[in-house]
Amino acid sequence: MKLDIEIIKSEAEELLSSAVESRSLAGWHSKYLGKKGILRTLTADVSGLSIEEKKELGRKVNELKSFLEELYAESVSSVTSIKKDKPLENFYKTLPGKKPEIGHLHLITQAIREINEVFSKLGFIRVRYPEVEWDYYSFEALNMPKTHPARDEWETFFIDLPEDPKLGKVVITPHTSNGQIREMLKGQLPIRMLNISRCGRRQSDINHVPTFYQFEGLVVDKNISITHLKGVLEYLIYNFFGEETKFRLRPYDFRFTEPSFEVDVSCGICGGKGCRFCKEGWVELGGAGMVHPNVLRAGGIDPETYSGFAFGWGVERVLMMRTGLKIDDIRYLFENNLKFLEQF
Ligand code: PHE
Repeated sequence: MKLDIEIIKSEAEELLSSAVESRSLAGWHSKYLGKKGILRTLTADVSGLSIEEKKELGRKVNELKSFLEELYAESVSSVTSIKKDKPLENFYKTLPGKKPEIGHLHLITQAIREINEVFSKLGFIRVRYPEVEWDYYSFEALNMPKTHPARDEWETFFIDLPEDPKLGKVVITPHTSNGQIREMLKGQLPIRMLNISRCGRRQSDINHVPTFYQFEGLVVDKNISITHLKGVLEYLIYNFFGEETKFRLRPYDFRFTEPSFEVDVSCGICGGKGCRFCKEGWVELGGAGMVHPNVLRAGGIDPETYSGFAFGWGVERVLMMRTGLKIDDIRYLFENNLKFLEQF
């Protein structure tokens, strides 16, 4: 009898592991633990045994039973998430499973990808340039010398590092316009650049956060004019916000473009009626203009032969103005509150 039980144990173990692999435990269960299973047959006929022998058999069979039950329970939990005490017969393999919860890309990442997609259809190529940058690329080469008061508007974060005699201080780039110079200096013309990157400025309110994203477009070629600029902006606006959106170019001054504009769209939150976010129905998306000759020169390009346009807008603004989203505080985008993010 002793021998039999050991053989049953090792055979059962072996069969169970192949049953686990093929995800079919039910057959194993009825073979060993079922009503007509091996366990039952061991005690089916005990008539020829003495009382001592019956006791001995009973003890061994009980031990085998708990061995098999434990083995089975462990395998069930490794095959399915069914609780150990539920029999496998309740496992219907054709029932639809529970879907694992999956997240989604952050709203800003989604917006960056969509912006990239819209521009790639116009032949713009996405590039990336340093987000911790020299003063030279962020300001100086953009026709904004050190002492120029316009630089105050950029509310720049300076990094505590030694200054470079030529390139100046190290800053967290306050706009993506540093990419203009870096792109021109590559020396490959014509240019159709899309530079999307993180920027930093000392600011915080419902419209501003200290780190945010901008996307900068730069086109340099022969005979580029304002109509090209307007056409590209229109393409983005209609594609991203829908054709019912109104937009306007307001004269502005940036040192690195001439003429310069700020581009406003009708507010996507109130539909242009005026709300706590936009106040008067228009929301500023960012700046644009024709590249200043000094900037072309700093990029090693002859302004007599080439001209270009550039624009730099906030990714979050564009996202918030998207029809139907109605996000009226930019800070929601950075709080990582799942209750907010899961809605999208
Ligand atoms: N860099 C400007 C800003 O951050 C935007 C801009 C980019 C303006 C390109 C003109 C041309 O406000």
